[in-house]
Amino acid sequence: MRIWQYSGTKGGLENNLKLNSTPLPVPKHNQHLVQVIAMALNPVDYKLAEMPLVGRLIRPKLATPGIDFAGVIVTPAKDSSLKSGQLVFGASGASPLASGALSEFTVPQPASSTSIPEGVDPIQAAGLTVAGMTAYQSIVPRVTPGDRIFINGGSGGTGMFGIQIAKAVGCHVTTTCSTENVDLCKSLGADEVIDYKKGSVLEALKICEPKLDHAVDNVGHDKDLWWHSHEYLKPGAVYIKVAADLSLHSVMDTIKAKIIPGCLGGVKRNLEGFRPSSRREDLIELVKLMKEGKIKTVIDSKFSFEEAPKAFVRLKTGRAKGKVVVDVAVETYNKSWA
Ligand SMILES: NC(=O)c1ccc[n+]([C@@H]2O[C@H](COP(=O)([O-])OP(=O)(O)OC[C@H]3O[C@@H](n4cnc5c(N)ncnc54)[C@H](OP(=O)(O)O)[C@@H]3O)[C@@H](O)[C@H]2O)c1
Repeated sequence: MRIWQYSGTKGGLENNLKLNSTPLPVPKHNQHLVQVIAMALNPVDYKLAEMPLVGRLIRPKLATPGIDFAGVIVTPAKDSSLKSGQLVFGASGASPLASGALSEFTVPQPASSTSIPEGVDPIQAAGLTVAGMTAYQSIVPRVTPGDRIFINGGSGGTGMFGIQIAKAVGCHVTTTCSTENVDLCKSLGADEVIDYKKGSVLEALKICEPKLDHAVDNVGHDKDLWWHSHEYLKPGAVYIKVAADLSLHSVMDTIKAKIIPGCLGGVKRNLEGFRPSSRREDLIELVKLMKEGKIKTVIDSKFSFEEAPKAFVRLKTGRAKGKVVVDVAVETYNKSWA
């Protein structure tokens, strides 16, 4: 099979990826062998790998990036109810540095993957896992129908799912994006869209009446948004920082925000970080919402397998409208399996 691999990240992960040929992976008893049809990139696929020390210390010598995949089962895991030929999607592996989806075959575990129902396009399912789970887990357990929520960054991979999921569970959504993405956010169901190019997001939030019930931050740059969250969030509301700026200054700010009590000048609402949990039941719920037409993967761009490094270049602009997808073998799948 062909597989993209890297052994360093000097000059950027995309400049270190090599398309190699290797034997097919041999699945363990708790892994499916899957032929990948499509995969999607997430910022975590390069951010951790490119962190100077972390990347070098915990990365295998030769690593293949990519968590999100959709594919077809060649050999199901032992004891799995899934069959050869069945479509599946999910997380290819557990390490963001080397999850292995950017490859023609991969070996996901049944616990972090599930079947794609009939009628759902594998390319659509390929974009769901990390961004969809992040949006789902940062919103659904925290809200009740009728809640008013704020999603900072509504047009990227995570935000576009956030808007749709929040609407699907009955929330009123206020989101942000640049001028050119206002229509996209509205088309996904956002009730109020704040164009951050045209004025202060905080000032626009302060006039929200009634105050908001929940906030999810997929951008993470504007610290005024959490330090002043009491000016637009109700008492007891949670502000979830999905995106984190990892500069020393920002990390120090977050520590300060978390340890100083609100009454002593700290953040006066509940500031939380976020890490998605690998919950199969959430994957099942997400693909059910997709099957019902309540959510879709907005595809920013689609690259062929051979063009995978270009897909990273696009993702790294930080301007993707939805997901950056790599078509690994859609045509082969259509000819030989469908
Ligand atoms: N904690 C976790 O487990 C976790 C999980 C998933 C994602 N994340 C993090 O969350 C962030 C978002 O992920 P993603 O997959 O959505 O990334 P993405 O797809 O690359 O996001 C790109 C989008 O961000 C928007 N954007 C950039 N600056 C903005 C601003 N100041 N205000 C509003 N929107 C802005 C852009 O819209 P415009 O062009 O309109 O500006 C673009 O549509 C990343 O930092 C990622 O690392 C963390």
